[in-house]
Amino acid sequence: MKPVFADDAAIEYAANLLRQGRLVAFPTETVYGLGADASNPDAVRRIFQAKGRPAGHPLIVHIPGVDCLNDWALTVPDAAQQLAAHFWPGPLALILNKRPEVPLVVTGGQNTVGLRMPDHPVALRLLHAFGGGIAAPSANRFCRISPTQAVHVADELGDAVDLILDGGACLVGVESTIVDLSGNRPRLLRPGHITRFDIEAVLQTELIIASQQSEQSNQSRMRAPGMMAVHYAPATTAVLCSTGQLPEMIQELSFPDKKIGILAYRSAPIENRLTRIIRMPEQADDYAQALYASLRELDSLQLDMILVEQPPDSEAWRAINDRLRKATSVYQPLVESNG
Ligand code: TXA
Ligand code: MG
Repeated sequence: MKPVFADDAAIEYAANLLRQGRLVAFPTETVYGLGADASNPDAVRRIFQAKGRPAGHPLIVHIPGVDCLNDWALTVPDAAQQLAAHFWPGPLALILNKRPEVPLVVTGGQNTVGLRMPDHPVALRLLHAFGGGIAAPSANRFCRISPTQAVHVADELGDAVDLILDGGACLVGVESTIVDLSGNRPRLLRPGHITRFDIEAVLQTELIIASQQSEQSNQSRMRAPGMMAVHYAPATTAVLCSTGQLPEMIQELSFPDKKIGILAYRSAPIENRLTRIIRMPEQADDYAQALYASLRELDSLQLDMILVEQPPDSEAWRAINDRLRKATSVYQPLVESNG
């Protein structure tokens, strides 16, 4: 499946495909989505087939405006109005209690629905042409890296998708921030470009950080390559290491003739016949934008391993570190002491 340039005719055609229950991949500001008519359960089931994603994983419904919240949500709390007014269109998904008519296949059987108005001209034109909600997870195979260019979607999904709209490279580069407003207190489910502080500033209340709880328990657990819960992961084993560890690990892991890819941040290792180096941008936003394409590039080189140099750990880097942790395993030296 070759991506098509998203001109008016292509968008009209895409909207028609959606009406027929077919699948259309389209760009958003975060990553490319694999879209289907959210009100058509058979169409939504096709998304799961195309991705190889198990049922029970809820999808985000993309809508063209704040005024469509009521079409999907049973009630729209003040917090949702405030966040949508402030951040939409933008990389923020809101979890709200769903209306009874929202198909359970969209929500993974739950009584809540994820909603977001994407900030991308092609996505918005498609939503307006279609005139309904578009359920769309990231347009990658289950557990793989999200696509940030149309060609990534073609590589991932081939002919499992009926049309790929090409709208260029995604500017944000990591998936949306998800805030759950279905309970008594707002909870951050997934960190993204919009940070917890951005959201807390608008809501004037503290978020419960669901992702941090699992981050902490993840860190305290011993993880080894191939043994962690893979998500957003390249096929090549990828390992996260500190700037200080990097030179030693390059030596150790490439010995005697293993090929290593390196996603470098602060260090400037020198490329040789066993190493391929991508130097990542210094700023968090630029790093996020480049992250998945860079991992994908290293992943395509038939390397034995990918080393990722740990970037900073401040709030601006939260989403990046979250995705890096999911794409990598913690390095465990092969020889362990008996203690
Ligand atoms: O940036 C994004 O959000 C991209 C673009 C395409 O919009 N989409 C995306 O979709 O990342 P996906 O399916 O790869 O991730 C959606 C996440 C999943 O982690 C899912 O668990 C969560 O949203 N989610 C969706 N609906 C939910 C619900 N009702 N309750 C809890 N989590 C939900
Ligand atoms: Mg995804």
